[in-house]
Formats: sequence, structure tokens, C-alpha cells
Amino acid sequence: MAGSYNSVINLNNFTKHIENNMADILVLYYSQTGAVRELATHIARGIDSVAGMSARVRTVPKVSTVTEAVAAAVPETGPPYVTSADLRECVGLALGSPTRFGNMAASLKYFIDGTGGEWMSGALVGKPASVFTSSSSMHGGNESTLLSMMLPLLHHGMVIVGVPYTETALSTTDQGGTPYGASHVAGADGARVVSDLEKSLAFAAGKRLAVLAGKLGP
Ligand SMILES: Cc1cc2nc3c(=O)[nH]c(=O)nc-3n(C[C@H](O)[C@H](O)[C@H](O)COP(=O)(O)O)c2cc1C
Repeated sequence: MAGSYNSVINLNNFTKHIENNMADILVLYYSQTGAVRELATHIARGIDSVAGMSARVRTVPKVSTVTEAVAAAVPETGPPYVTSADLRECVGLALGSPTRFGNMAASLKYFIDGTGGEWMSGALVGKPASVFTSSSSMHGGNESTLLSMMLPLLHHGMVIVGVPYTETALSTTDQGGTPYGASHVAGADGARVVSDLEKSLAFAAGKRLAVLAGKLGP
């Protein structure tokens, strides 16, 4: 059921994009309390600001410690669950996760661990990718999460795209935003809003990803 729902959406997008000569960049994230979801919207705005490029936003189901639990086929709110067709069809990838003990969240890792088919077929080889995260503390894994998220993407043959220091916010931010990718520092209670500098760096990350995807081509 979910497959057919997503397939219809993908088919409609795909047809519309072929007609309009548009290409999609996949913004794939997991977010439990909303911080990474907000970063994703700014990255998507950056992607959409580039002519001919469009953000395709997707998420993954939460992995449960109760192995019998089954998620609803279609999320009640937010973007649809990602499919392998999204990976194949998109010309680039922005991958986002909350920091979990200095690493990406299990729900996103679980999805990535299921991409053996795309790895074997080389579906992602040569496509650009950027990573983004949110952590509660500034020095509790914000950057290590970004670096570790790059590892499976390198195995997939993707071209990793960071944020250059020509983005002046990189030198002035005293919260998130790194050369390794967009990020947010949410604070111990998660209440800190995404700052203007964090937003501008997330936008820049999305825009740069889209520009480079256009240059690298399909
Ligand atoms: C199990 C668990 C582990 C976490 N580990 C870290 C960590 O290592 N470092 C850190 O700064 N924040 C850590 N956090 C906090 C989250 O990364 C932070 O709240 C993040 O902003 C949540 O993003 P979200 O709102 O998109 O879910 C952890 C949270 C949970 C629930």
C-alpha cells in the first residue's frame, strides 16, 4: 500500500520533472523532536533556489526495540518514507540525523544498512552528498556525527560536499554550522531555536549541493 502511494507520488514528480527538465535532490532525514526536520527545510530551500533543481524530502520509520512493532505504511505527518526508487532517481543526497552518542540515529542507519542493492548496482556512484545533524551540546558529537555519516556514503561512491569558509557565517557562528555540513546545537533541553546563522549555513549547504549536482550531471 505504502509502496503504491509513494510510487504514485514519485511517478507524478518524475513525469512533471521530465516535462520541466527538472532534477530532484533527495533530502533524507530522521528526526525525533524536530530539530533535524527544521534544518532539512532550510537545506531544501537552498536546493530549490537553484534553477532546474528540486528537493525531494523523505524520512525513515523509527526503529523499535520491540521487534514485532510495525510502523504505519504512510507517516501520519511529515514527508513520505524513502524508497529505493528515491535513491535511484535523485541526482544528489542530503542526509540528516540527530546525534546519538556521537553518531547517527539507529533508524537512519537501519535504512542505510538495507541499501546493499544500490551499493551492488552502483546507483549512487558519482552523485554528490552532504550531511547534517542536530545535537544537544556543542562538543558532544556534533562534528563526529557528520564525519561518521560520510562513511557509508563514501562506500556508495558518492562525492562528499561540505560547506566552504567563503560562507562567512562559518567563521562567526557560536552555535552550529560546520565545514563538514549543516548543524544545529539544540541545548540540553532541546529548546534552542535554529539560529539565523545556522539557517543560512543550512541554506548554503543545500544550494551548493544542488549547484554541484547540476555540474556533475546525471
Ligand atoms: C539516546 C540519545 C542520545 C543522544 N546523544 C547525544 C550526544 O551524544 N551528543 C549530543 O550533543 N546530543 C545527544 N542527544 C541529543 C540529540 O542529538 C538532540 O536533542 C537533537 O537536537 C535531536 O534532534 P531531533 O529534534 O531532530 O530529534 C542524544 C539524544 C538521545 C535521545
